[in-house]
Amino acid sequence: MDKIIIEGGRRLCGEVQISGAKNAALPIMCSALLTEGWNTYHNIPDLVDIRTIKKLLGSFGVAIEGEGPIRVNAANLTRCEASYDLVKTMRASILVLGPLVARMGMARVSLPGGCAIGARPVNLHIKALQDMGAEVELKEGYVEARAKRLKGANIYFDLSTVTGTENIMMAACLAEGTTVLGNAAKEPEVVNLADVLNGMGAKISGAGTDVITIKGVDRLSPVEATVIPDRIEAGTFMIAAGMTGGDVILKGCNPQHLEALINKLKDAGMDMLFVEEGLRAVGSGKIRSVDVKTLPYPGFATDLQAQMMALMAMGNGLSVITETVFENRFMHVSELMRMGADIVVQGHRAIVKGIPKLRGAPVMATDLRASASLILAALAAEGRTELSRVYHIDRGYQGIEKKLSALGADIQRVRA
Ligand code: EPZ
Repeated sequence: MDKIIIEGGRRLCGEVQISGAKNAALPIMCSALLTEGWNTYHNIPDLVDIRTIKKLLGSFGVAIEGEGPIRVNAANLTRCEASYDLVKTMRASILVLGPLVARMGMARVSLPGGCAIGARPVNLHIKALQDMGAEVELKEGYVEARAKRLKGANIYFDLSTVTGTENIMMAACLAEGTTVLGNAAKEPEVVNLADVLNGMGAKISGAGTDVITIKGVDRLSPVEATVIPDRIEAGTFMIAAGMTGGDVILKGCNPQHLEALINKLKDAGMDMLFVEEGLRAVGSGKIRSVDVKTLPYPGFATDLQAQMMALMAMGNGLSVITETVFENRFMHVSELMRMGADIVVQGHRAIVKGIPKLRGAPVMATDLRASASLILAALAAEGRTELSRVYHIDRGYQGIEKKLSALGADIQRVRA
């Protein structure tokens, strides 16, 4: 298995191009299931998760061409089953459920099962489809949903769910009548998907607020669309600048999507400057400890919690980090502690006592954002860090070691 080796202590300076958002690209590619004909998507990142969704769509008979832009055509669907083998490697595969039922009248999708960051059930996706008249059965680990034609409904999500909102928004586009989603997720990726669907002829209003209204239409047409920049990748590089006392310009990022992080990093002593190319993140070399609580958007993103914890590990005092979105997203703590971090976990809270210097160590990634946090810690640490299980990072960061080396990091991948 590949390893990433980092010699820490280099100041990161220069420009980095932010790639397309993984979590927008995945639902957008699934939205092609709702129509016949060639859709064209720009700014799809080159990631393992994108390869997985291509494989999954391909298994239904979807034709996919090109690398950038990517063209997707779901005219000839031959199968409506998402197998356990693929779904277990990527939970976002559940995003095919809504579109398949809406377009084909049935879908059979493996239940994703638990994962490293929490139980992550899909009960809200299922309940919403039932509210729209689908008959849903759970059989042999699969969700089987059937509906001749879904019917518009008033749906209220008990929890703000990103892929739940996306799944049902897609399904509702081809339903009979109007669907209203209450307590809908407001993430920029949901808005990007709604814009793409409207470009296909859907009638969606309210995306980006917590009430989304979708008037069903009889058919949708193919579209040419662009994926938004990845706010989590941008945020990770911003924190890298903070940890190394660096000066990094994030080209092409959308600062409006990063308000919660920008404000926290300013409180932590960084300068954040809006520049023509995007955003410039400047670290002062001194990190002030701040408290952080993750929340659905526009709150502080859970996908940046692990990276922020790496920064706080080098803060000047105590920081309390509260995770409210997932119940088990502190797997990076024990690995950060192997690098000298002083962290105590109490339920949903981590109390981080900053230390002046982390030390390099052999560490192991447990999930995508945990890997990012360990890479950040290693960049700032004294000495050498060897990160194993790097396949996690390849799921969500395009060419991370190339981008970091271009900024001056001493980082290399050792192929096994
Ligand atoms: C999306 O996951 C993202 N994935 C995650 O990105 C991100 O961490 C998460 O949203 C929160 O922002 C994609 O967009 C592909 P949720 P999702 O449904 O949609 C509970 C990354 O690193 N819940 O918004 O699966 C759930 O357990 C990742 O890129 C239910 O109880 O998350 C969680 O506690 C990983 N029942 C909370 O809601 C349901 O039916 C929010 O989860 C659905 C969710």
